[in-house]
Amino acid sequence: MDSSESKPLVVVLMGPPGAGKGTHAGPLSEHLGLPHISTGDLFRENIRSQTALGQKAKQFIDQGQLVPDDLVLDMLFERVAECKGGYILDGCPRTLYQAAALDRKVQGHNRLIVLNFQIRDEELVRRLSGRLSCKGCGKTCHKQFAPPKRDGVCDSCSGALYQREDDQEAVIQKRLEVYRKQTLPLIEYYGRQKEVLKEINSEQKKDLVFSDVLEALHERVYS
Ligand code: AP5
Repeated sequence: MDSSESKPLVVVLMGPPGAGKGTHAGPLSEHLGLPHISTGDLFRENIRSQTALGQKAKQFIDQGQLVPDDLVLDMLFERVAECKGGYILDGCPRTLYQAAALDRKVQGHNRLIVLNFQIRDEELVRRLSGRLSCKGCGKTCHKQFAPPKRDGVCDSCSGALYQREDDQEAVIQKRLEVYRKQTLPLIEYYGRQKEVLKEINSEQKKDLVFSDVLEALHERVYS
C-alpha cells in the first residue's frame, strides 16, 4: 500500500436537488464508518435553533438560491475539523469557488472521490414534490414511492413528518435553474481530475443505486 492509499477518504455526493444524495448518505455513512455532513441539514438545524447564521441562510434557501460561499465554507470547515478519519459530503461543494476551497483543504491529506447522481428533471420534480422529511431524525420518505406506515409519522424514530418549504413546485424550478448555472460546471471541473469523478444512474430502484455507489467506491476505498 503506498502512502496515498492510507489517507482518509472524502466522498462528495453531487447531483441536482432530489437526486438521492441524502437517501444514500445515511447508509453509506454506516457502511464506511464515516460521518455524513449535509450542508443543507446544517443550515436547517441553524434555522430551527434561530441562530444568526440560520436567519441569514433562510432568506436564500426559501427562494431556492444558494447560500453565499463564505457562510457555507466557514460552517463546513468548522465541522470538518472534527473529522480526521474522513467524511461524506452531501450537497457541497456547489460552486467552483467551494470546490477549489475543498481541494485546498484535502490536498495532500485525503483521497477524494466525487459521485455524481444523474437523473432527469421530470423524475426530480416527482420525487421532491412528494418528499416528506422527519423533524426528529431527518430521514426522508415519499408520499407515493415510499409512504410511511402511519400517516405523518416517521418509520425510523416516530418523529413528525413535514414537507420542506423549498419543496414547493415554484421553488423546485428555481433550485434546478440554480443547479444548472452554478453546480453543473463542477462536473467538468472534477472530470479533469483523473479517477475522481464517478457517474451514478440514480433513476434505478434505491437498492440498485446503492450497489452502484459501493461499486464505484470499491476501487478507491479498498485499493
Ligand atoms: P439541500 O438540503 O442539500 O438540498 P438539495 O441539494 O437541493 O438536495 P435535496 O436534499 O433536495 O435532495 P437529495 O438529493 O438529498 O434527495 P433525497 O435523497 O432527499 O440544500 C437545501 C438548500 O440549502 C439549497 O437549496 C441551498 O439554498 C442551501 N445549501 C445547501 N448546501 C449549500 C452549499 N454547499 N452552497 C450553497 N448553498 C447551499 O431524495 C428525494 C426524494 O426522492 C425522497 O423522498 C426519497 O425518498 C426519494 N428517492 C430517493 N432515491 C429514490 C429512488 N431511487 N427511487 C425512488 N425514490 C427515491
